[in-house]
Amino acid sequence: MKNIRIFDTTLRDGEQSPGCSMNLQEKLEIAARLEALKVDVIEAGFAVSSPDDFEAVRAVAGSVRRCGVASLARATEKDIDAAWEALKGAAKPCIHVFLATSGIHMEYKLKMTPEEVLAKTSAMVRYAKGLCPTVEFSAEDATRSDPAFLARVFSAAVAAGADVINVPDTVGYAAPQEIYELVSYLRANVAGIGKAVLSIHCHNDLGMAVANSLSAVKAGADQVECTLNGIGERAGNAALEEIALSLATKRAFYGAETGIDTKQIYRASRTLSGIIGVTPTPNKPIVGANAFAHEAGIHQHGVLANPLTYEIMNPADVGIPSSKMVLGKHSGRHAFEDRLKDLGFDLSGEALTAAFGQFKKLADRKKAVSDEDIAALAGEQTLEIADGYHIERFVVNSGSTISAMATVKLSRGDEVQEEASTGDGPINAAFNAISRIVGGGHELEDFSIRSVTEGGDALGEAVVKLKRGNEIITGRGLSTDILEASIKAYVNGINKMAVRR
Ligand code: KIV
Ligand code: ZN
Repeated sequence: MKNIRIFDTTLRDGEQSPGCSMNLQEKLEIAARLEALKVDVIEAGFAVSSPDDFEAVRAVAGSVRRCGVASLARATEKDIDAAWEALKGAAKPCIHVFLATSGIHMEYKLKMTPEEVLAKTSAMVRYAKGLCPTVEFSAEDATRSDPAFLARVFSAAVAAGADVINVPDTVGYAAPQEIYELVSYLRANVAGIGKAVLSIHCHNDLGMAVANSLSAVKAGADQVECTLNGIGERAGNAALEEIALSLATKRAFYGAETGIDTKQIYRASRTLSGIIGVTPTPNKPIVGANAFAHEAGIHQHGVLANPLTYEIMNPADVGIPSSKMVLGKHSGRHAFEDRLKDLGFDLSGEALTAAFGQFKKLADRKKAVSDEDIAALAGEQTLEIADGYHIERFVVNSGSTISAMATVKLSRGDEVQEEASTGDGPINAAFNAISRIVGGGHELEDFSIRSVTEGGDALGEAVVKLKRGNEIITGRGLSTDILEASIKAYVNGINKMAVRR
């Protein structure tokens, strides 16, 4: 079996997609989940692009020991220096240099001739290699480049010391057969290819990112670049969970496997969607709510007789536990802790005590607490911001013949503030009261609420997107009361904004 390396770019290409930005603490949480998944490389950011990105790369480099950590850099000394400065503390650092090779990019964006691109590739890969033990070179827009020129550029990169050469389908234009032919061609025509890792990086504009990545594996690629839940620029990148499960489910066909601990997928996917406030669509393979649900009677009958009739994968393979015991208000801390472990959460100390307290409150309101509820409560522990605002109380009056009116009391340290406001409805009134307390400076860009499970007593999860300048911050809140969930989400967004500032 050939081992396929997984290069995760959730924190770089994924974070580039609108509304998916994360703060430092959230990036570290995702990096921890990626390390638990056992990805080979975590691309932590684009160090030169902003002070926040630089700090994120540095912090991930300092906290992750088992996986490689990469930073993106354009083919300039300034970018490469910034990447190296941020990566220095990593156990396995990697500078990821990129330069476009397609005719359209060279002429209109770079304003460089092909010969200049060749020379720059050699010079910048050599420069990066002088600083960092591992260098990856990406030929941006590779799939729309002339294959013979691409092979020359990659040959130059390998000769200059590149350890990995990456083939990005930057605009998601290629078809699986074209990728197969291109990768086969590069395998046969790049000088020194035996010394380098050949990598593929696909975008999903035509819905082909995963199919194209797998086609590349069939043609001899050694590494796949992907993101959790498939987030990324425009229509996203190839989804890590789909790549990992395709290879695990059809090992014999691909003759390849990854080192991914697939049982960590459910938790990693949930952690990410909780942080960015974007839940995968219900029919999303592997991690969508319906990915393992059988509705048709004929299917249900088959699955009961033998799960293999309609299930090619087991939900447990991706860490979705099949509950043997329903937890309720009589369940103790041990049962709760055990279930958390089954779900892939290893909370301890204050976070465990807080999650257990929330569970008890929830169990008082709901008869049976589901695994989804428990995962949501555990995920909520990462939302707490110690020195932020806390909700002391709120009172809301609303009805069809009166204007909605809310009073909210928040505390921060020793300071307690209370404000009242009217609004276009109870939630809007509460948000206006909170804005008065914190002094405004932001706009509500988006608000949504969904129930975590089914039934009238379900936990509601509210997500707000707050805009300050060009920045969008996501806040999240959970409660069986939708007003409380909404207020919690708004206050969480405000606190995250303050941390960012
Ligand atoms: O899609 C792309 O071309 C990229 C490169 C920078 C690798 O993300
Ligand atoms: Zn990309």
